[in-house]
Amino acid sequence: MENHPLATVILAAGKGTRMKSERPKVLHPLAGRPLVAYPLQLARELGSEKNVLVIGHGAEQVREQFTRDDVVFAIQKQQLGTGHAVQIAATQLSGFQGTILLLCGDVPLLRRQTLEQLLADHRKARATVTVLTAIVGDATGYGRIVRDNGTIARIVEHKDATPEQRAINEINTGIYALEAPRCFELLAQLDNHNAQGEYYLTDIITLARGQGEPVATASLENIEESMGINDRLQLAEAARILRTRINRAHMLAGVTLEDPLTTYIDIDVVIGADSCLQPGVHLRGTTRIGRHCRIETGAVLLDCEVGDHCHIKAGSALEESTLGEKVTVGPMAHLRPGTQLAGHNKIGNFVETKKAVIGLRSQASHLSYIGDAELGCDINIGCGTITCNYDGVNKHKTVIEDGVFVGSDTQFVAPVTIGRNSLIGAGSTITKDVPADALALARTPQKVIEGWCKNRKKK
Ligand code: UD1
Ligand code: CA
Repeated sequence: MENHPLATVILAAGKGTRMKSERPKVLHPLAGRPLVAYPLQLARELGSEKNVLVIGHGAEQVREQFTRDDVVFAIQKQQLGTGHAVQIAATQLSGFQGTILLLCGDVPLLRRQTLEQLLADHRKARATVTVLTAIVGDATGYGRIVRDNGTIARIVEHKDATPEQRAINEINTGIYALEAPRCFELLAQLDNHNAQGEYYLTDIITLARGQGEPVATASLENIEESMGINDRLQLAEAARILRTRINRAHMLAGVTLEDPLTTYIDIDVVIGADSCLQPGVHLRGTTRIGRHCRIETGAVLLDCEVGDHCHIKAGSALEESTLGEKVTVGPMAHLRPGTQLAGHNKIGNFVETKKAVIGLRSQASHLSYIGDAELGCDINIGCGTITCNYDGVNKHKTVIEDGVFVGSDTQFVAPVTIGRNSLIGAGSTITKDVPADALALARTPQKVIEGWCKNRKKK
């Protein structure tokens, strides 16, 4: 069935009461993405042409997160059950003929291969409904799969189950493949005569069977994939499982993790081969690390781009910064958004940069603040140099041209421009532009009074 269209419905209307949060459950982050982005990503990878997100609690907040036009929303004002939620989604799928993959916004660990198998089994059985099931140790809370001569007969919710049915250890994962438009005709026949007074999607099995429609199951081998997130304990557990997967993939791709258990890498991070991460490193967001980099303990990078052969030393924090190749940062350096280091730079201990564009080979090795600055190549910034960029109302720019040598403890009171190859004497407070090739000195001349201390002691 090569040209059989695929659409996806993601259920995400539930409140997530147990998260005890102001944030809708499906927007809680996991390895750098909101929970609901995981099923959506799978749908996209599988070629789903239309993705319907069923939202209710915190609908506006959820909607704001997704601007791409392959996502449409169906609002479920009252959560009357999973069957009702899919009925609501149907309004966005009128006229759709093909397979609907039904996923949950709070089930982030499913793998693509699992869903490919579900779809393959569904098509092979030419089923109207195929349920992904799993065998578990403790089935408490789950819908049980009741079989009749091997074929699925119905799903019984835990609250509705008899003691015999509760002994069944095959459960409904809540993931399905459904054939549209037939499934919508069946869903229209659901009732809510059950222990929870809800419209159960699971009743579609009984309805389909009753009308002679083929139903099937596919089996999930690794049950951690169907784990739903209901509280923050499960969120942390899912993060641990995902971290194991992510770290494993990086190591197999040639990255050394000295201690994978304490290395935190978000899902969208890219790392080049032969790079080495020490324990306690956090690589967040869309950070990209080149090849042959060394990242030491306690470094935290968010949305950064780091070239090859860079060395980020212990305890450095980098955010929205771009580093060319062979840059050394830290220990304890703070690169804030808008820092761009062209390459072969050294940004040393206790240096803070912000909106600083710095040319090749320029360096600031100790205790400086460089903000709203444009620095050329081959500049040496002496220890304790500060750009005074803020006058209390506006920010001003410091421009330093190629080859300038800045003596220690200099303040640049911006806006100010320093011409190429000039030299700033240590301890200067520079308030006016300096032309090229000049020496600028701006400090109080030293006074020496001989014998002063001796005389004072005598009094
Ligand atoms: C459901 C299944 C159960 C299965 C379990 C797997 C039914 C009746 N039961 O139970 O067989 O073992 O999932 O986790 O389907 N949702 C909405 N709108 C609603 C109700 C739910 O969007 O009106 C969403 C929830 O946000 C959640 C998902 O649907 O993402 C599942 O709902 P939940 O209430 O957790 O279902 P369970 O009772 O756990
Ligand atoms: Ca649930």
